[in-house]
Amino acid sequence: MEMNDKKLQVSAIKNGTVIDHIPSNCLFKVINILGLQKIQTQMTFGSNFESKRLGSKAIIKLADVFFKDNDINKIALVAPEAKLNIIKDYEVVEKKIVEVPDTVTGIAKCGNPKCITNHENMITRFNVVSKKKVAIKCHYCEKITDTEHMQIF
Ligand code: CTP
Ligand code: ZN
Repeated sequence: MEMNDKKLQVSAIKNGTVIDHIPSNCLFKVINILGLQKIQTQMTFGSNFESKRLGSKAIIKLADVFFKDNDINKIALVAPEAKLNIIKDYEVVEKKIVEVPDTVTGIAKCGNPKCITNHENMITRFNVVSKKKVAIKCHYCEKITDTEHMQIF
């Protein structure tokens, strides 16, 4: 926590998860990926905060929510720079970085309009073919989609 007299721009939480260093333009994608629209516990978020590293960043604070690594890594598709802070009794007890997973199931849409997954009611499957500049390859039609063109459900 900041120990000088600057105020936190979004209130501190007692217990839960703070997802920090999200590129501002990815905030709503991260909310989508994690299904936070349906969350029943306290959530606060802010965007377009100053960040030395990213220029501009967004933050999501989730009270009483602790993710599985599997869920966390989904964020890496759109926000590989994101950092998770696990908060217990107001203290940061753990910091986690996100890792781009090897496969992606049911989060992204295939960019090929002719792909079977865009015509049948089925779950999409991709292999991650590049982790640095994230690109995913459709298991069904082999079309490669990069993050800029990635559509998240
Ligand atoms: N935080 C919070 N509630 C707490 C403690 C921390 O919301 N009870 C938030 C802080 O506002 C910050 C993030 O969790 O956004 C990480 O906290 P901290 O490690 O104290 O901040 P920094 O050192 O700035 O983190 P970084 O490693 O990202 O530079
Ligand atoms: Zn496809």
